Amino acid sequence: LLLGIDLGTSSIKVAVTDALTHRVLATAQYPDTEAVIVSKRPGWAEQSPDLWWEYVQEAIRRAHALGDYDPMDIGAIGIAYQMHGLVLVDKEQRVLRDSIIWCDSRAVPYGDRAFAAIGEQRSLERLLNSPGNFTAAKLAWVKENEPFVYEQIDKVLLPGDFIALRLTGEATTTISALSEGIFWDFASDTLSDDVFRYFGFDKGVVPSVRPVFGAHGGVTADVAAALGLKKGIPVSYKAGDQPNNALSLNVLEPGEVAATAGTSGVIYGVSDALTYDPGSRVNSFAHVNYTAASSEARGVRVSEVGVSEARRVGVLLCINGTGILNRWVRDITGGDYEALNAVASAVEPGSAGLKVLPFGNGAERIFYNKIVGAQVLDVDLNVHSEAHLYRAGQEGIAFAFRYGLDIMRGSGMNPGIIRAGNANMFKSPVFVEAFVNTTNVPVELYNSDGSIGAAIGAGMGAGIYRDGREAFAGLKPVKLIEPARAAVYDELYGEWKEHLSLFI
Ligand code: XUL
Repeated sequence: LLLGIDLGTSSIKVAVTDALTHRVLATAQYPDTEAVIVSKRPGWAEQSPDLWWEYVQEAIRRAHALGDYDPMDIGAIGIAYQMHGLVLVDKEQRVLRDSIIWCDSRAVPYGDRAFAAIGEQRSLERLLNSPGNFTAAKLAWVKENEPFVYEQIDKVLLPGDFIALRLTGEATTTISALSEGIFWDFASDTLSDDVFRYFGFDKGVVPSVRPVFGAHGGVTADVAAALGLKKGIPVSYKAGDQPNNALSLNVLEPGEVAATAGTSGVIYGVSDALTYDPGSRVNSFAHVNYTAASSEARGVRVSEVGVSEARRVGVLLCINGTGILNRWVRDITGGDYEALNAVASAVEPGSAGLKVLPFGNGAERIFYNKIVGAQVLDVDLNVHSEAHLYRAGQEGIAFAFRYGLDIMRGSGMNPGIIRAGNANMFKSPVFVEAFVNTTNVPVELYNSDGSIGAAIGAGMGAGIYRDGREAFAGLKPVKLIEPARAAVYDELYGEWKEHLSLFI
């Protein structure tokens, strides 16, 4: 059996699957109400890694209680995690401060200064892109503002590295994680001397670099006893939630494209080139099957797990304000998703003129890291109801995707079809219709999600699957949605974009 853990922003999800039959034996989620993002100041976003670890354990216990299996039969663990977050631990592996998470915008000026000092072209070619959003700049903020914390740092971890540390006692990371932290130089395929030198970081804070599909330590006796697991079973896969979403949909080769719409919304296309947008509005990172050219990283066992051994880069478009906007509308209207979707479906496309800009979750990369904020526009008090608001919110998110996709198209990523798990906002017919028609790209929905993807990754990393055919045998399309009203949505997008121009 395989255990997949998906450390999201609003909750932790786990799945236990049967590696051979691909049956999902249990899924569980914790907490029940969405996990809190602590925002001490506008643009800041933090979460407690110790709470994440409690939630992970609780979710695993719930899965055990629900599923008809023996937890001692679990043979490997995979971890997917919210990307770009900063977790700091001392020599005793204690957490030094709350995690500064992916949508926290405080470090944007630190990244911008580094970008200029290292040189824009040099940074872009090495994929040191949009550096202000990512882990290195967050670490620079701590160095300058919390020197008493900084001096106690033993290791700098990404959120998934931290969960693996708690499971196994071992601090490890991956090239993919280092790339999403802007610590990796793709030209030399090593840690970035430019970044470490510019910020004055010590390379000793980087944990041991392991393959994504590889050995990230074995579960300790204490954790095994606490969670009913067999001692020593490996964490054999670790990836950011977006590359993992792509993996979960068998999106591994150039030209293949995945999407998701959880707290944030992402379109993620695979490329074999070091593609970048000159404005860093979309970002490229190492995909799960990225193989570095340098000897330092030749240990990557990608070929053994049946996916190609080559330069595979994920070109990532992120909208921070996606599911979090949808949730906000739900919360302030006091409804539930199902009921609100039903009333929103009855409203015509265009929401009778009501428009929502969904950007209320920090600096948006598509706007050069500007904080645009969420806006509700053109409200007619005699016409609009909560149904219009709910629909306009989902349409606004779809329009934001179109805006970003046009940037992606400009850098050569032009999807013919997009694959998505039948999960999060892709479960909402209102959103899916708006997304498909506004982008004018068909979407194929699959019976998968991040935790199932992490379980597949665990099986690949542990060598249980001999090739991709075995690994993805359980992946089935659920539905193909094709654009049928593209002209209608194109016009609505044009109107929305005109309103957007007032704010960017
Ligand atoms: C991707 C990104 C978000 C987080 C959400 O670059 O920042 O999608 O990964 O967990």
